[in-house]
Amino acid sequence: MNHIRLGVNVDHVATIRQNRKTLYPDPVLAASICELAGADQITVHLRLDRRHIQERDLYILRQTVQTEINLELAAEEDVLAIACDLKPETATLVPERPDELTTEGGLSVVGREAELGAVINRLKKAGIRVSLFINPDPASVTAAVKAGADQIEIHTGFYSHVRGQEQAKQLARIAEAAETANKHGIAIAAGHGLGYFNTQAICAIPGISELNIGHAIISRAIMVGMDQAVKDMISVIAQGLANRKLS
Ligand code: PXP
Repeated sequence: MNHIRLGVNVDHVATIRQNRKTLYPDPVLAASICELAGADQITVHLRLDRRHIQERDLYILRQTVQTEINLELAAEEDVLAIACDLKPETATLVPERPDELTTEGGLSVVGREAELGAVINRLKKAGIRVSLFINPDPASVTAAVKAGADQIEIHTGFYSHVRGQEQAKQLARIAEAAETANKHGIAIAAGHGLGYFNTQAICAIPGISELNIGHAIISRAIMVGMDQAVKDMISVIAQGLANRKLS
């Protein structure tokens, strides 16, 4: 593998706009700047409460994004119908709770393979590749394969929010989940809570081919600009991949 794809999640740009119900800052403009800086994909989460990304954003992004759109969504009729109409390149199924600050855990997949399989089939029939956002455990990986997902996205939030020995333990969980995914031959993305100081170790895990990163990049963009923030993350990822090749 010569490249790990970077999906930039621009939800937080829309969060600032929705705070004041202004026309700015526009996540559509942010997405274009991310692409110019080298992002491989634009990731957006259309939440059921529409707290950040709006349908208007999605339909304009569909006309302006030159790379790919990764639409995160709950397995709920409202947003599934929009996904099938919009036809993003990838749909990532995520769990959603109305009062959460951000997506908290991975999807519960074990025992729900048939139910999720029906949703996956519906999206696939619309020509959309389907990824499942799951916790880093081998049973969830196997269940995602059984449900018919094209890709898993390993939840890195547990790893990102701890330090020291606990962080090493969480990194090992992600590596174990990736190893199971590699055995099944399913594509592996990872994301949530990743930043400039904890992403390299994730890039060193064999098989991980895509990262979706939002909060850290948008936060840095406030200080250094979006172009620089995306380029800085691309350098971090390239170094992490180089370390993988050396190990
Ligand atoms: N991947 C998934 C599935 C997510 O739900 C999110 C948050 O919307 C991200 C990646 C990006 O997380 P963060 O903003 O913490 O980088």
